[in-house]
Amino acid sequence: FRVAVFASHTGTNLQALHQASLGPDAAFHLSLVLSNNRGSGALAYAHTHAIPAAHMSGATHPDPDQLDTAVRVLLNAHHIDLIVTAGYMKKIGPKTLKSFDGRIINIHPSLLPRHGGRGMYGNTVHEAVLASGDHITGPSIHIVTAEYDEGPVIAQKELAVRPDDTVESLSARVLSAEHILLPAVVQDLALRAIGRHGSGGVARQRP
Ligand code: GRF
Repeated sequence: FRVAVFASHTGTNLQALHQASLGPDAAFHLSLVLSNNRGSGALAYAHTHAIPAAHMSGATHPDPDQLDTAVRVLLNAHHIDLIVTAGYMKKIGPKTLKSFDGRIINIHPSLLPRHGGRGMYGNTVHEAVLASGDHITGPSIHIVTAEYDEGPVIAQKELAVRPDDTVESLSARVLSAEHILLPAVVQDLALRAIGRHGSGGVARQRP
């Protein structure tokens, strides 16, 4: 079960997924990293660990339609079964979306549908959580559709928001939870795809 990760920045979720893929019981292989940012930590990590990687963006393909085609061709060349977007700051083109319909997942740092949508990423999300007075937060994983953060949620991890939380403390705690939730969900999808039963237990982990 071959997984591609799309990432624009640091890529700590990519690292967590890669480390999990090296485990003895891993049912998936991290087969490709794609970034729209030539200088991203994600690409640097891929190079260091000899994971096939590519930079594709408006800089390499000024025509969005050609970019979409090039991404799809690359994914097919690597026989990718699942795309994971983790901190990927670009919309996936319509052709790629169509040929990977239902096989693209995204990780978002709040309990969707709370605090999702256009412009809601990074610390903005945690600021909104604190401002809203929500008592719980945590990462969501959802199927990617044409609209930002709107596809069906397939897994969430609920965490308590503490009275003394800051954007920094909250983002660190949510990110740590992402690093556990994402590999668990990918493992589950891989096991289901290859016909063995997944854990069935990742969908709603309680604190
Ligand atoms: C994560 O918080 C993810 O939920 C969001 O972007 C961040 C990516 O972090 N979509 P990293 O690049 O994986 O470290």
